[in-house]
Amino acid sequence: MKKMMKKTGVLLLLLFPSFVMGGGGGGVHLDTAPVDLSDNESLKNGAKLFMNYCLSCHSARFMRYKRMADDLGMSDQEVLDNLVFTGAKIHDTMEIAMPAEQAAKWFGTTPPDLSVISRARGDDWLYTYLRGFYVDPSRPMGVNNVVFKDVGMPHVLQGLQGKQTLQEDGTLTVDGSGSMTAAEYDKAVGDLVNFLAYVGEPVKAYRMTLGWYVLGFLLILLIPAYRLKKEYWKDVH
Ligand code: HEC
Repeated sequence: MKKMMKKTGVLLLLLFPSFVMGGGGGGVHLDTAPVDLSDNESLKNGAKLFMNYCLSCHSARFMRYKRMADDLGMSDQEVLDNLVFTGAKIHDTMEIAMPAEQAAKWFGTTPPDLSVISRARGDDWLYTYLRGFYVDPSRPMGVNNVVFKDVGMPHVLQGLQGKQTLQEDGTLTVDGSGSMTAAEYDKAVGDLVNFLAYVGEPVKAYRMTLGWYVLGFLLILLIPAYRLKKEYWKDVH
């Protein structure tokens, strides 16, 4: 019995590594990110937000503009006109203009590459993080974060969200100074996290579609296989 429980435990850990990793949330409740890799409009909006608000400090070095154009059904020119602000060419990867040493000087730490951040932190963590900045005058950037204590990143989306205050009961209230309503902001961050999830594993949507095709094929194959089996066993019985 003990052995079996041990085995089940190991199996659970293999299936749900997030149990052990914890996502670095430090026991804070994580909100569920509305990730849908088949929603192209959401991915495009997320890409726009990423290029406008994140790429100045964070790269996504494993991702090429060309690949994104193809995956999201955009022409090369559309991407160059609407999403490239760094002077990059279509076959380039998503690099930042700021040298890493300079960033380290400004922020005390280098903003990490975000190519696989959705797999490292999890989508829900990212969704909670980007909605979890609150005013903290004791910090150099004037903000702290509910899932990332003493974060070195400024709240770059404050113009959209407004300023949040952490209440004594742990809830966040927003002051209404942002250009978006709370619902609009949640949607925007949802799109951004969706895009980061896509960047983390660009082939995932394809893999999932392929999975259904494979299952369909196996199901169809079942018919002749079953008939054949019946045919073979006819003589044995
Ligand atoms: C002005 C520069 C700057 C911009 C713009 C910026 N960040 Fe950051 N970001 C940082 C720095 C610096 C850190 C490192 C914080 C630390 O380690 O304390 C960071 C950390 C992070 C982390 C945590 C990484 C980890 O350690 O797991 C995530 C996620 C993140 N940023 C996402 C974003 C997203 C998404 C955007 C766009 C909305 C963005 N950042 C825009 C500077 C920036």
